[in-house]
Amino acid sequence: MLRSILMFSLITLQTMAMALSPAVLSDVSLIPKPVSVIPANGTFKLTDKSAIFVTVESPEVKMIGKYLADKLNPATGFGLEVKTATGDHYAGNIYLFLSADAQLGNEGYQLTINAEVVTLTANKPAGLFNGIQTIRQLFPSNIEMASKQQGPWELQAGTIRDYPEYAFRGVMLDVARHFFQVEDVKRSIDLMAAYKMNVMHLHLSDDQGWRIEIKKWPKLTAIGGSSQVGGEKGGFYTQEQYADIVKYAAERYITIIPEIDMPGHTNAALASYPELNCNGKATKLYSGTKVGFSTLCTKKEITYQFVADVFGELATLTPGPYLHIGGDESHVTKLADYIPFVNRVQDIVAATGKQVIGWDEIALSTLKPNTFVQFWAKAENASKGVKQGAKVIMSPAANAYLDMQYDATTTLGLHWAGYIEVDKGYNWDPATFVPGIGKENILGIEAPLWSETITNMKEIEYMFFPRLPGYAEIGWSAPAGRSWDEYKVRLGSQGGRFKALDINYYPSKLVPWAVEK
Ligand code: ACM
Repeated sequence: MLRSILMFSLITLQTMAMALSPAVLSDVSLIPKPVSVIPANGTFKLTDKSAIFVTVESPEVKMIGKYLADKLNPATGFGLEVKTATGDHYAGNIYLFLSADAQLGNEGYQLTINAEVVTLTANKPAGLFNGIQTIRQLFPSNIEMASKQQGPWELQAGTIRDYPEYAFRGVMLDVARHFFQVEDVKRSIDLMAAYKMNVMHLHLSDDQGWRIEIKKWPKLTAIGGSSQVGGEKGGFYTQEQYADIVKYAAERYITIIPEIDMPGHTNAALASYPELNCNGKATKLYSGTKVGFSTLCTKKEITYQFVADVFGELATLTPGPYLHIGGDESHVTKLADYIPFVNRVQDIVAATGKQVIGWDEIALSTLKPNTFVQFWAKAENASKGVKQGAKVIMSPAANAYLDMQYDATTTLGLHWAGYIEVDKGYNWDPATFVPGIGKENILGIEAPLWSETITNMKEIEYMFFPRLPGYAEIGWSAPAGRSWDEYKVRLGSQGGRFKALDINYYPSKLVPWAVEK
């Protein structure tokens, strides 16, 4: 008996020790999986004498250093400072610098750890930012806690070289069906950034609500912003709040893509302005969850003035290259009206200097150069887009929709595209998903979260996690190195991080959760 208790304790201790401090760098569970990890001998120890050095007087690199300090200081209690290096490297410090290395591209990084120093290099600031996400994951999970924890804070020696498979790795948040506060969008951005995702698509308008202030059309928010699913009070972002979200995202190397869905999914606008309706009468506000019953009047000139004003203001507020025009499920717009509408809206957006993204139905129109097709439902539409020379964003509903339930017991979410357990969410390759659409035709991937049933941040987290890291890996890591059996163990190791970050996650039985003490 005593012997078996001792054996059990020994095994438990061993397991805990392994989880706490992997003996070699290649044993650390990283998501997304890096391009290469080469372990070496030695251990770097972060102490209260350590500092973060940037080697150029660049405000941007300094801000990245500050971001790293802000991530490491609460749990370590070290009060690490950001300093400008003079040239020599001193033991105990972390060094961040920019240096030309073509293979790393715009977002890649090289991280070298030895017993003396940690050196993170990249071509571009975005690469340094991504490398910092790796540094976070190399420390024990407790590094993510908001209060001081017991160390030691050690990193195993070695070199990681890493860069993404796709340039576009996104999440969509539907803030129209239910409205979410700025703080919730910011937390979503932080959670994405931790997994090196770089696009946040905001679905800003739908039948149930209009969520962005447009100065030339103030009733869009005064009336259209007042409702949401379920009949509760909605909400909207002022232009200042939107600009604040854009800035917060940009500081995390995340591009905001604003979507105004049209010509369908427009009841909130149609309820705000009677002139947008063909019969000149305002519709009633809508708080149900049906789709496909509304349309802008595609034959009226005022509609195109509306479109130009809305996208004009959004283009000014949005530094990123894309404006999303929706275009999905316009079931009450005749195809003969839909096609010229989408053609004309593309011209309007192009005149703002931005590139168009639309859901896959827009491939029924004549696509302009630089229009992107977001595949969600019909492979045939995506293929039509590719035949016209467009690149595709892969968001297949049956694999990538974050609002799909995990299984029949999930109470949040929907299942019209099927259940998406964590393995199904992970187990697909964008480059082989649709015959005839290969990597060269794909801009990247995006996992949308529609919010018919999602009402608050904890519910967002439950649908995001643990699937979001899988979408991040599909976008970042080469398919040849990916398999569910290997990935699920790395995902299980993230459990402690989810807890430390207070993430409300679905504890899927398919994942071997390893919980650190
Ligand atoms: C969509 O899910 N209607 C794009």
